[in-house]
Amino acid sequence: MTMLLHLDSSANRSDESVTRRLTALFADRWRSIHGSTEYRYRDLAADPVPPIDTAYCQLGRRSEREGVVPLDLVGALIENDAEADAWALTEPLINEVIASSTILIGAPLYNFSLPAALKTWIDRITFPGALALGDTEVVVITSRGGAYGPGTPREGWDYEVPYLRAYFTNYGVRDDNIRFITAELSLAGLVPHLAHLRGLAERSLAEAVSCVAAGQYAAAQG
Ligand SMILES: Cc1cc2nc3c(=O)[nH]c(=O)nc-3n(C[C@H](O)[C@H](O)[C@H](O)COP(=O)(O)O)c2cc1C
Repeated sequence: MTMLLHLDSSANRSDESVTRRLTALFADRWRSIHGSTEYRYRDLAADPVPPIDTAYCQLGRRSEREGVVPLDLVGALIENDAEADAWALTEPLINEVIASSTILIGAPLYNFSLPAALKTWIDRITFPGALALGDTEVVVITSRGGAYGPGTPREGWDYEVPYLRAYFTNYGVRDDNIRFITAELSLAGLVPHLAHLRGLAERSLAEAVSCVAAGQYAAAQG
């Protein structure tokens, strides 16, 4: 089974978006190898996943009380229309994730963390007992206005990459099956006080582009 689930979460839907440009490049390359049939796209900014609610939590708690409930048996635990609605929103999203061999995520750094649209999708798909990702490959393409690497003033302030690594490994993705491709200093071309970092920004973007274009993400897929 080879299926790519491509998610974008940048609120900026114009072609200025670095993550959108890079995920599109990744997806084009993937489709040139595997074809378009098994390709799914979700724009979490244009078509946001609704936030979870009381009905989701109550159905989830009932499921949790039972231990691990197989996905197709959760429906039998539904007690009212609100829970039926919550499950009707949730189940297809979980099935889509489970069916994917690769999950590609465009994830800009927002306020030292991930965009709310992406977190809302994560909260929705993480229904108690439902998610086991096993051999899934995860590719996160992230972009940030500043820089957070070793020796920078804000080293350690990036709560997005460590969070996503912890999240996906907790649900079974092998550490060597999660890749992060980062373009940093994307604001250097815009913000005057970062102008002296433009060379570094260009280099970072060029490295991210060549990483995607060279298919370094896809060792497991051939
Ligand atoms: C709401 C918001 C919050 C941001 N917070 C940060 C931040 O905490 N650190 C940072 O380095 N850049 C931050 N930025 C800059 C973005 O990370 C940067 O512009 C990135 O390239 C956006 O991704 P995109 O080009 O795909 O839209 C923020 C931008 C926005 C719109």
